[in-house]
Amino acid sequence: TTLVPARVEIPERTVWVDLHLITDLLAKARHAATLACAPFSHFHVGAALIMADDPDHTVITGANVENSSLSLTQCAERTALYFAAAQGFRKLRYLAVSCAATTPATPIRDRSPCGSCRQVIREFSTPETLIFLDTGGPHLGADVFDVDRLLPHGFLFKGRPAS
Ligand code: THU
Repeated sequence: TTLVPARVEIPERTVWVDLHLITDLLAKARHAATLACAPFSHFHVGAALIMADDPDHTVITGANVENSSLSLTQCAERTALYFAAAQGFRKLRYLAVSCAATTPATPIRDRSPCGSCRQVIREFSTPETLIFLDTGGPHLGADVFDVDRLLPHGFLFKGRPAS
């Protein structure tokens, strides 16, 4: 048997962003976190996004909403993305995520989207989509990901034409 390793290497990439716009998005994600409904975990997460196919570039925000069942809890990223999709938009341009408890010492895994959200982000992404994870603290800083970095080899079902 020959085992062929998956091609996991993702080439380095440089992106240019409007710092003003990203700063605003991160600030709005931080504010959205203050609106989280998280009586069980007390882990407050906010998301703010702009859809590429929204001509008005409206900033849409979301927060995590927990449920007594626990399993029906919805993350901030999906709250915002599903709202955007329900407005008719399909292409995510920028997404900022902020966990209220984050400090610059917090490792990325403690403040980054869960696997389910990564898959939903993937569904509405293009190669231009960028995800900013708030580093927390007094300054607005973020780790930047594109979707290949957030979810390597992410599943995308093209479906088949409606008959
Ligand atoms: N949560 C989010 O909203 N986004 C993430 O990226 C990770 C986790 C929420 C779900 C739950 O309400 C709380 O954080 C603890 O897991």
